Amino acid sequence: MSKVYDILPDAAARALINNDQYLEMYARSVNDPEGFWAEQAEKFVTWFKKWDKVQDNDYFEGRIRWFEGAKVNVSYNCLDRHLETRGDQTAIIWEGDSPDEAKHITYRQLHEEVSRLANALKNLGVKRGDRVCIYLPMIPEAAASMLACTRIGAIHSVVFGGFSPDALRDRIQDSDCQVVITSDESMRGGRRVPLKANVDKALESCPNVRTSIVVKRTGGNVAWKEGRDVWYHEQLAAASPDCPAEEMDAEDPLFTLYTSGSTGKPKGVLHSTGGYLLFTAMTHKYIFDYHDGDVYWCTADVGWVTGHSYIVYGPLANGATTLMFEGVPTYPDAGRFWQVVDKHQVNIFYTAPTAIRSLMGQGEELVKKTSRSSLRLLGSVGEPINPEAWEWYYNVVGEGRCPIVDTWWQTETGGILITPLPGATKLKPGSATRPFFGVVPALVSNEGEVLEGATEGNLVITRAWPSQMRTIYGDHQRFIDTYLKTYPGTYFTGDGARRDEDGYYWITGRVDDVINVSGHRMGTAEVESALVLHESVAEAAVVGYPHDIKGQGIYAYVTLMVGVEPSEALRKELVQLVRKEIGPIASPDVIQWAPGLPKTRSGKIMRRILRKIAANEIDALGDTSTLADPTVVQDLIENRAVK
Ligand code: WT7
Repeated sequence: MSKVYDILPDAAARALINNDQYLEMYARSVNDPEGFWAEQAEKFVTWFKKWDKVQDNDYFEGRIRWFEGAKVNVSYNCLDRHLETRGDQTAIIWEGDSPDEAKHITYRQLHEEVSRLANALKNLGVKRGDRVCIYLPMIPEAAASMLACTRIGAIHSVVFGGFSPDALRDRIQDSDCQVVITSDESMRGGRRVPLKANVDKALESCPNVRTSIVVKRTGGNVAWKEGRDVWYHEQLAAASPDCPAEEMDAEDPLFTLYTSGSTGKPKGVLHSTGGYLLFTAMTHKYIFDYHDGDVYWCTADVGWVTGHSYIVYGPLANGATTLMFEGVPTYPDAGRFWQVVDKHQVNIFYTAPTAIRSLMGQGEELVKKTSRSSLRLLGSVGEPINPEAWEWYYNVVGEGRCPIVDTWWQTETGGILITPLPGATKLKPGSATRPFFGVVPALVSNEGEVLEGATEGNLVITRAWPSQMRTIYGDHQRFIDTYLKTYPGTYFTGDGARRDEDGYYWITGRVDDVINVSGHRMGTAEVESALVLHESVAEAAVVGYPHDIKGQGIYAYVTLMVGVEPSEALRKELVQLVRKEIGPIASPDVIQWAPGLPKTRSGKIMRRILRKIAANEIDALGDTSTLADPTVVQDLIENRAVK
């Protein structure tokens, strides 16, 4: 039996939703979805024109549509409609990499910046439907750039600033962006990262990019290509601050965001306008129990979906004060998060288990040095949170006063699908608990049979919700094949889960060839493709293995070409190669030289066995008799990295 934490009285007293309300609203959301969603859509979103139809969804045909016929603009909802009542309220608190740098930006200021930038984009020829790549650090200009795109109906594609020039190039090419917004450099942990130089490299192979707009962040030296490169501040100064928001169709694309799958190159997950706006606003309000005046901080990067939905769109749609942090949790020291909480009197704090685990490893002292008395609610996202980390977060960081919302979702889902509500849900450390409104999860066996009661299986969602991805950019068939074909009639998440006797969900992790490293999602196939580019590598197989801090580490088995000897120098070259192809987040933690890989007689690599060896679970290898050459396993076991 797992431990149960009762709803905290203070959380219950102020909560927007208690358990009876949750049960009633949930029942309504699944029994009368049309009525439920129409009501929520009225409540959370300002529409220029109402919809003709609430939903039109068909998982067999791959059609997902919400609020068709409606006209709406995301930037209008995040900015303009707040001006009258909260124009002078802080929209974004920016905390720089250095503790000496911070600023407050009001809704009125953000509205003006976004309007000017939107006009600047228009002046540069960006039209409705065009794609704009955003490759920026965690600075307010990143949020402004996203909002400026949505203001004129351009589709943004944010690329995480930690991706390499090659990874950036692939993403720019895939969605055919014509404009890139970047900065001279970024600051992380006191060090400068050459973003503009990375863009310059990427653009060598992106002839369709005609303009790069450069934010001056550090003032560092950058190369300049006349006719292509323009300064962000100069463009803004020259543009009019008057830019009415474009009336978009509810189903017009809003953004693409690349994410890894089990095969091939990263996919451009495409989200659309009305449903995404509604769902991110609603989840942000109810799950974080956001009340007017609260200071809310999500530590994610805008390069990931968490940053899109829960730093920018959900909070701003609700007129919240959202904190954006440029730096890292360990600079100047590992107490930074808690110092920032005190400095800006943060009430709601949302971070990833990997950060909690690494700070937990630094001891309690740095936490205890701070007050954290402003904190009221804690959130977790990105990977399963182990009960030890949960308890530490709850008892040490939150001093037993703050509920934890363990929020399960994905890039594809746009918003949180399984989560506690702070005033409604008793907590169990490690469980994401119950579905949000309108979300109907199910567990199915590998054969697709629906499993009832307390059980474990593959996690699917049986009906569409408003912020579900609509397609993979440029490849609708791949969307259908990846998500809707595996268990027909349902959306397949790629995750496994257990459901307990209380109906609580416990996510057990990916069941496909995707690994989760420090909350970053990676396809093992991508890392393998990078490794085999090296002339000395004949073959590579990559698996995840349990890692104390990262959740999963990257374990690569590499078979060298005949006649090539393994060496430390070669190992370093391979790590470098992966960093160049993808970025530092994909660096293998372990490279094991493998004279041979375990394969079936038809030549398929048996990753199950490789995963067991990497995890040092050699007693649980299972049946190896179907291998083409069972002897290779012995060598791999003897030379495994973790014993
Ligand atoms: C994968 C999605 C959702 C934003 C950040 C990651 C894992 C995410 C949880 C959680 C257990 C979680 C899943 C999921 N995951 N949140 N609370 N508990 N696992 O987005 O990069 O698209 O990754 O992250 O495995 O499939 P993403």
